[in-house]
Amino acid sequence: MVAVVVLITAPEVVYSGPEDCCSYGDRMLIMGTWSNVWGKGDSKRRVIMAREIFEDLFSKYPEARELFRKVKIDEPESGEFQAHLVRVMNGIDIIVHLLNNSYILSEQLAHLGEKHELVPGMRKVYFEEIVRSVAKVFRQVDSCFNVASWNRCFEKFMIVLSAYVLPSKISYTPMPIQAYQSSSSKPSKGTDKLRKP
Ligand code: HEM
Repeated sequence: MVAVVVLITAPEVVYSGPEDCCSYGDRMLIMGTWSNVWGKGDSKRRVIMAREIFEDLFSKYPEARELFRKVKIDEPESGEFQAHLVRVMNGIDIIVHLLNNSYILSEQLAHLGEKHELVPGMRKVYFEEIVRSVAKVFRQVDSCFNVASWNRCFEKFMIVLSAYVLPSKISYTPMPIQAYQSSSSKPSKGTDKLRKP
C-alpha cells in the first residue's frame, strides 16, 4: 500500500523541474502544434524547415556558420550537412516529447549540454537565438503555433543548456562578417511552400 502511494505521488516531485514557468497547458499546446508541423513532415520538408531555422540564426550570428564546417555547411546539399540539420531537429523533437517527464528531460538536457560543451566557439547566445528562430519559422508554417508557450518552456531549457557553455571556454575567433555576406546567408522564403493553403 505504501509503495502504491509513493508511485502515485512521485510525479508531483518530478514536475518541480526546470520548467516551472512552463505550464501543463503550455506543454500540451507545444506538443500539439509540434506534431502538426514537424511530426507530419517528410524528410524533405523537415530539411527545408531546419535549413530555414539555421539561416535565420546565421542572419543574426553569421560567424556561427564556422562551427558547422566539419559537417560540410559549405555543401548545403550534402548528406553530411542535411543529416546534421536533422540530428539537431530530432534533438528538439526529443525535448518536446519529454515535456511531461521532467525527470528524463533533465537528463536529456544535461546530455545535450555536455555535447555542446565540447563544441569550440559555441556561445550561449546561439541557444537563445535558435529558440527564437524555431518559433519564427514554425509560426510561418502554422499560424496556430503558440510562440508564448514555446518561449515559456524553451527559454528555460536553453538556460540549462547554456550553463554548459562557459565564456572561458570560448577560444574561437570569428571570421569577419563580410566573409558571409553572400546571398546564401540572407533569410529566404523557403517556408512559403510549406505553409498550409
Ligand atoms: C535546442 C537546440 C539544439 C539541439 C537540440 C541540438 C542538438 C544537437 C545534436 C543532437 C548534436 C549531435 C551530437 C552528436 O552527434 O553526438 C549536435 C551537435 C552540434 N551542435 Fe547542436 N543542438 C542545438 C543547438 C545548437 C546551436 C544553437 C548550435 C550553434 C549555433 C549548435 C551547434 C552544434 C555543433 C557545431 C555540433 C557538432 C557538429 C559536428 O558533429 O561537428 N547546436 N547538436
